[in-house]
Amino acid sequence: MNNVSFSFKNKNAVVTGGAAGIGFQITTSFLEAGGNVAVWDYSEQALQSAKDQLSKFGSQVQFVQVDIGNRDSVAKAASSLPWAVDILVNNAGITRDKSFAKMTADEWDAVISTNLTGLFNVTKGLLEKFNAASAHKRIISISSVVGLYGNFGQLNYAAAKAGVIGMTKTWGKELGRKGFTANAIAPGFIATAMTKAMPKEAIDAMAAKIPVARLGDTSDIANAVLFLASEQAAYINGATLSVDGGIVL
Ligand SMILES: NC(=O)c1ccc[n+]([C@@H]2O[C@H](COP(=O)([O-])OP(=O)(O)OC[C@H]3O[C@@H](n4cnc5c(N)ncnc54)[C@H](O)[C@@H]3O)[C@@H](O)[C@H]2O)c1
Repeated sequence: MNNVSFSFKNKNAVVTGGAAGIGFQITTSFLEAGGNVAVWDYSEQALQSAKDQLSKFGSQVQFVQVDIGNRDSVAKAASSLPWAVDILVNNAGITRDKSFAKMTADEWDAVISTNLTGLFNVTKGLLEKFNAASAHKRIISISSVVGLYGNFGQLNYAAAKAGVIGMTKTWGKELGRKGFTANAIAPGFIATAMTKAMPKEAIDAMAAKIPVARLGDTSDIANAVLFLASEQAAYINGATLSVDGGIVL
């Protein structure tokens, strides 16, 4: 179900990791709602696939290869934007899962560099590129249920995703007077290409632990992003919205 009827006509969004998975659905939903989107992703293959699937949106969408962990790459992408930004969706993220005892420093560094420092790089790089005249500037960052509750085998990921919530609250305090709101979304278990390839019994066993009895869909997250990006959500600031079917209840 992805027929949320917000209009984003004349609104400009940057979606990191917007070429695949949840980010691709966020990109598609903004485009369907009339917005312009710059898709920032580091995977050449994902960018090409997204380009093919979104060709009907023409100049509404642009595709930029950028590594959010690399400040030069972010600066170059920011300078190529054809418009001032209204909405930033910090969505790109990776995992390098291991128990704490087995986790290497490289696995720690990789996840912190993309999932935490990457959001600093992008938000800092775009701060002056936001539409100064807009009273509805939005920073929406994808955290995780794991950032709220921790998870076995995900020390690096849990630390980064908890950090995203701290950054969001601080942006909310510092930037509120400048016409921004900053909010985070904490998805639960979302069905992506990876989970769709899993055996039905394994999916059913996971779904049985979720009160609404199903995995989340990428559109469940995109719908929440569009709501937080809308002008109607103007009084929500510094919040973390759980979109997890009640998995931790
Ligand atoms: N899938 C889930 O169940 C789930 C649950 C909670 C949170 N999340 C979060 O949602 C976000 C999206 O997850 P997903 O499942 O769609 O992942 P995904 O792997 O399907 O897509 C992530 C996209 O980000 C891009 N990316 C990764 N590192 C990048 C970098 N350094 N620079 C630019 N682009 C980069 C990838 O190329 C890819 O296109 C992530 O932040 C993830 O942590 C996902």
